[in-house]
Amino acid sequence: MLNEKVHVLLNEQINKEFYSAYLYLDFANYFESVGLDGFANWYRIQAQEERDHALLFYDYLQNNGARVTLEAIAKPDKTFEEHIDVLKAGLAHEEYVTSLINDIYAAAYEVRDFRTMQFLDWFVKEQGEEEKNATDLIDKMTLFGGDPKSLYMLNSELGARVYTAPSLVL
Ligand code: FEO
Repeated sequence: MLNEKVHVLLNEQINKEFYSAYLYLDFANYFESVGLDGFANWYRIQAQEERDHALLFYDYLQNNGARVTLEAIAKPDKTFEEHIDVLKAGLAHEEYVTSLINDIYAAAYEVRDFRTMQFLDWFVKEQGEEEKNATDLIDKMTLFGGDPKSLYMLNSELGARVYTAPSLVL
């Protein structure tokens, strides 16, 4: 049986991951509105990945006989002055998610819940990749975003991203 605190945190993470999906869908929405369809594609796929993350937490609880409670998903309410502000908000959000994963890990560690720690290992690695991707995007935008031709090419590059299901199988 799962420790109550670990159970609560894992359940909350379902909501946080769905919120992440909602947030990134809103980022895609922003980029659609300014005609950058490649950036929109990139964030739309990011939203799909976040939905997958939510379902992984959902499945983990189900597989361990722990009840899932679904809560309301908050409204994404960020507004942006410049394109790069969206990318920076993405990195800040991933850093926040990393802190959430770390908090669950710490709670599991405290009660010697090795199964949950092993499940979370995938997310610890994933967060490293998410932060790197967000940082790389900011770097590219900083370098090339000011020039229309370069922005067009960057937009095309991001438009080529395709969705792949997560490598974690429960
Ligand atoms: Fe589910 Fe982007 O972390």
